[in-house]
Amino acid sequence: MGILDKHKIFETNATVLLVGSLLVVTVGGIVEIAPLFYLENTIEKVEGMRPYSPLELQGRDIYIREGCYVCHSQMIRPMRDEVERYGHYSLAAESMYDHPFQWGSKRTGPDLARVGGRYSDEWHVDHLTDPQSVVPESVMPKYGFLLHRELEAEHIGDLMATNRAVGVPYSDEMIESASADFMVQVNPFGDTDGLLERYPGAQVRNFDGEPGVSEMDALIAYMQMLGTLVDFSTFEPDTSR
Ligand code: HEC
Repeated sequence: MGILDKHKIFETNATVLLVGSLLVVTVGGIVEIAPLFYLENTIEKVEGMRPYSPLELQGRDIYIREGCYVCHSQMIRPMRDEVERYGHYSLAAESMYDHPFQWGSKRTGPDLARVGGRYSDEWHVDHLTDPQSVVPESVMPKYGFLLHRELEAEHIGDLMATNRAVGVPYSDEMIESASADFMVQVNPFGDTDGLLERYPGAQVRNFDGEPGVSEMDALIAYMQMLGTLVDFSTFEPDTSR
């Protein structure tokens, strides 16, 4: 009996074929997925990455709530055209504090992984309020209402505690100072020493130009941080593995 004849057993018997396929898929799946749970170094540590400041984290929540990810990815692929357009390809470590991560392949609009610092805060306010006033052919919806939605700091500690529960290393001190850090990041005249010690490189200013902390402030603080934490002028990929 040749090997092809043996294969006939699978081809003529639905149950055997089903069980056989399941077995193959299971083994393949385990071989691919299981090691990821045991490899300490699935994510290489990269200098500069830190958990998001309370205001940035709140902005990220608004980004997700508003479905910005439906049109924008945050993952620059290592292809030449992408790297030339957006900058250094995304590292896994840059998403290590993202729950859920914001990768994706749907790009109705540009990738936003490195949008931080590319535009002024005023540009963002104008663009979010009325995208077509800045880019006439844009299909992006208007988000001007964010400017009129005031944020309170009282629950931000809970949001951070929730992120800690899924693995973001927020310390007790960070959670205790959450409300104060949240408020001071939009106040250039405030005492920001604690904030900057806990979240190095956090940008402090009145992002939307209006008094108070609005959802617009939080969203712009988040976007202006994207892609700015790792210094790619000194970054070298770890090739030791
Ligand atoms: C229906 C799809 C769609 C949605 C939803 C959407 N955008 Fe956009 N976005 C676009 C398109 C298209 C562009 C390119 C034209 C433009 O600049 O308006 C764009 C451009 C941008 C840019 C400029 C990027 C660059 O590099 O020039 C930013 C920043 C941005 N969007 C942020 C957001 C945020 C934040 C949200 C959620 C509050 C959002 N977008 C939701 C489609 C969308």
